[in-house]
Amino acid sequence: MSETHSTTENNNSHCCDNTCGNADDRVVPDSVEINPLFARPKEAQAFSKFTIPQKSSLPETAYQVVHDEAMLDGNARLNLATFVSTWMDDHANRLYMEAADKNMIDKDEYPKTAEVESRCWHMLADLWHAPDPMNAIGTSTIGSSEACMLGGLALKRRWKEAREKADLPTDHPNLVMSSAVQVCWEKFCNYFDVEPRYVPISEDHKVLDGHDLDKYVDENTIGVVAIMGVTYTGMYEPVEQISEALDRIEERTGLDVRIHVDGASGGMIAPFIQPDLAWDFRVKRVYSISTSGHKYGLVYPGLGWVVWRETADLPESLIFKVSYLGGEMPTFALNFSRPGAQVLLQYYMFLRLGFDGYRRVQQTSHDVAKYLSGEIEQMDDFTLWNDGSDIPVFAWMLNDKPDRKWNLYDLQDRLRMKGWLVPAYPMPVDLTQVTVQRIVVRNGFSHDMAEAFIKDLKSCVKYLDGLRSPMPSEARASGFHH
Ligand SMILES: Cc1ncc(COP(=O)(O)O)c(C=O)c1O
Repeated sequence: MSETHSTTENNNSHCCDNTCGNADDRVVPDSVEINPLFARPKEAQAFSKFTIPQKSSLPETAYQVVHDEAMLDGNARLNLATFVSTWMDDHANRLYMEAADKNMIDKDEYPKTAEVESRCWHMLADLWHAPDPMNAIGTSTIGSSEACMLGGLALKRRWKEAREKADLPTDHPNLVMSSAVQVCWEKFCNYFDVEPRYVPISEDHKVLDGHDLDKYVDENTIGVVAIMGVTYTGMYEPVEQISEALDRIEERTGLDVRIHVDGASGGMIAPFIQPDLAWDFRVKRVYSISTSGHKYGLVYPGLGWVVWRETADLPESLIFKVSYLGGEMPTFALNFSRPGAQVLLQYYMFLRLGFDGYRRVQQTSHDVAKYLSGEIEQMDDFTLWNDGSDIPVFAWMLNDKPDRKWNLYDLQDRLRMKGWLVPAYPMPVDLTQVTVQRIVVRNGFSHDMAEAFIKDLKSCVKYLDGLRSPMPSEARASGFHH
C-alpha cells in the first residue's frame, strides 16, 4: 500500500478530522485529503497525487474529490480571456452526453457521424463562398491549431511538388505572416521545418496589410497567412489588400503565392455580421480557410474546421484512406482518434440557429463589445487599441500619467478578486513596450453582465487610484499566452 493511501480500517483507531494532532493524521503534502463527510467505510481517505491509488473508491467520493478540485478553477462564464465556448443550451448538453462515446475516426462504425461531418464542412464551404461547395474538400479537426497545421502542410506540399517538377531545390521553404500570429503558426514552422517570416506590426500598421510584402516573399515562400481576428486584438487583416499586394508581386516576379486564411474567430463572425467584406473564397488567392468550431462556431472545446477551395487544392499525396461502409474514405488529420460528439454539436448548432440565429447571436456579442469599449474609452485612464468592430474583441492601453501607482497587471489582479478574468499582456516583437488588456465577448456574456463588469472595473480603478505608494512589482509577468 502506498504511504499516502490510508484506509478507513487503518484510521478507525484514530480520529479522522485532522484536528487531533496525532502524527498519523498529519496532512501528507503529496496527497489529496478527503473531507470526512465524503469518506465511506473501506475506502481511501487520502489519494496520492502522483501515483495511482492502490485501492478503489466509491464513485461518489472520487466524483466529489475531482469536482472539488475543479471548483477552484476560475468561473468559465467570467473568463473574458478565452475565445472558446463556455455555454451551450440543454439540448446540446443532452446530445453531448449521448455522443460522448463516439470516436470520429470510426467512420465505418459511425457512418452517420461521418456523414454529418462532411455536411458541416460543405456548409462552411458554402458560407465562405467556395465557387462550387460540392467540389470543395475539408475536414473537422481538434481545433484551429490542427486546422492551421493542415492548411500549412498543404501549402508546403504543393510548393514542394511544384519545385521538384521544375527541378528546383526544396530545402528552404518559408511562410510569411504577421508578427502577431497565434502560436500555432510558430509551432507549424518549428515542427515542419519551415522558416517563419514575420512582418512586424507597428502603431502605423496594426495588422498585416500588404505593405512591404515584397521584402518577405520569394521563390521559397509556400504561402501567406492572413488572420481574420488577430488573437492579440481581434482586428481583421485586410485579405483583399494582401491579395492585391501579392498580385503586384506576381506581375513583377511571376511568383503565384497562395493565401491561407486563419479565421479561427472571424471565420464564424464575418459571414454573419459583415457579409459584404470579401475575405473568403471570393478572394481568388485564398485557397484554404480554417476556423474553430469551438469559438464563434459556438460549440464546446475540441473542434476546428479547415476547407480547401477545390478538391484539387489539397495535394493527393497528403491523403490517407480509412475504411468506410465497406469502401474507403479519404482523411487528412494529425490525430487518429478524436471525439465525434463536437461534430454532432456543430451540426446541432447549424440546425438550431440557422443563418439568422447565428447572425443574431454574433450581433449581440458585437453590440456588447461596442458598449464595453465605448464605456472604457470614456474612462480617463485608458485609450482603446481597437473598439471591437471586427470580431467582438477589443484591447486597451493605459494613458501616460506620471504619478500613477499602478499598471494593467495590477488592474488584472484587482479584477480577478471580483471574479473577472481579463488578461493584460505585452504586444508582440517590436511593440513589446506596449501593454494591453483585452476582453473577448462571447455568447452568454449579456448586456447585464457587461454593465456589472463596468461597475467593477470603475471600482477597481478607483481603489488603485487611491494608492499612496506603487503596487509591489517584483517578478510581475503576464501568465497569458497566445
Ligand atoms: C487567430 C488564431 N489562430 C489559431 C488559434 C488556435 O486555435 P485553437 O485554440 O482552436 O487551436 C487561435 C486561438 O485563439 C487564434 O486566435
